[in-house]
Amino acid sequence: MSIMYAYDVTTKDDYLIELAEKQSALLAFAVYPGVSLLHVFPVLRFLPAWFPGAGFKRHALKCRKIALEICDVPIDIVQKQINDGTAAKCVTVEFLETCQSKDGLAAITGAAASAYGAGADTTAASIKIFFQAMAMYPEVQCKAQKEIDAYIGSERLVSFDDRSSLPYVEALFREVMQWRPVAPLSFSHANSSDDTYKGCFIPKGTTIITNIWAMAHNPEKYLNPDVFNPDRFFNEKGQLNDDDVYYIFGFGRRICPGRHVASTTVWLAIVNVLQSFDIQKKRDSSGNEIPVDGGYTDGLTMYVPSLHTA
Ligand code: HEM
Repeated sequence: MSIMYAYDVTTKDDYLIELAEKQSALLAFAVYPGVSLLHVFPVLRFLPAWFPGAGFKRHALKCRKIALEICDVPIDIVQKQINDGTAAKCVTVEFLETCQSKDGLAAITGAAASAYGAGADTTAASIKIFFQAMAMYPEVQCKAQKEIDAYIGSERLVSFDDRSSLPYVEALFREVMQWRPVAPLSFSHANSSDDTYKGCFIPKGTTIITNIWAMAHNPEKYLNPDVFNPDRFFNEKGQLNDDDVYYIFGFGRRICPGRHVASTTVWLAIVNVLQSFDIQKKRDSSGNEIPVDGGYTDGLTMYVPSLHTA
């Protein structure tokens, strides 16, 4: 929000955040083949919304309303700030100041909303997964904190320049991404021409789902993939291996364009929290630790249910 719109979120019930969360809740399952007859019989899209059985259409209209709000509300705020002379430096201000054509405005609005819609929730979900993992695996947390303390001490706060000097934190970051990839089935793609893969003919236009969850949990690549274990990212010489788990950001032309921002943001959140806090299990009234539910949701974006508000 601050990169795109110079908008600082200061409360938990921020309207724009609520919008992003509502959008992901609505889209969570709608995008996958099989959730509606419409995916099998596209002709059903011509049914009017009031028609019995056309619930998919009413759902789509709700999604559209929110998608348009996500586009328009923040850009209107920025426009107003530009007019008042109070706009701070951010991507949309930079663009809007140089381009005022109708097409340009539509492109800026769409690009900024893509980053906001696709980036806010995924980043937040990854950070929540980090909190869940630290509460479940205190020994991992302790090892990472020792690395930070040994390298940085307590005289200054950790910064992005320290990234390459903190290999265990890097491995922990990769493990957060691999243990619970927040976009487990990515976005659906379609092939633009006929193709044959391992003897299987795939006609042009076929919906192709990349199962990132299966890749991240492939036991041939990751021993005991359900156990949170950053050590899997070190080779026998004790150096970080070259598995940077970037497949969790998708593939090809449609690969996540926000992956560098995402990696930086999540890494910074992890390392700053680890340097300053201890994450512990909740305790009951007698002071006994309450076991952490290691559960997660499915859908377009994966969440830790106990930390999810939408
Ligand atoms: C941990 C955080 C994130 C994860 C795991 C993630 C993952 C993904 C994945 C798997 C895709 C689908 C790629 C494909 O179709 O092959 C995607 C698409 C996308 N992501 Fe991210 N993302 C994250 C954060 C962000 C951020 C911070 C931004 C923007 C600043 C962003 C913007 C986008 C956009 C615009 C698309 C759609 C690209 C297209 O369809 O052409 N994402 N992301």
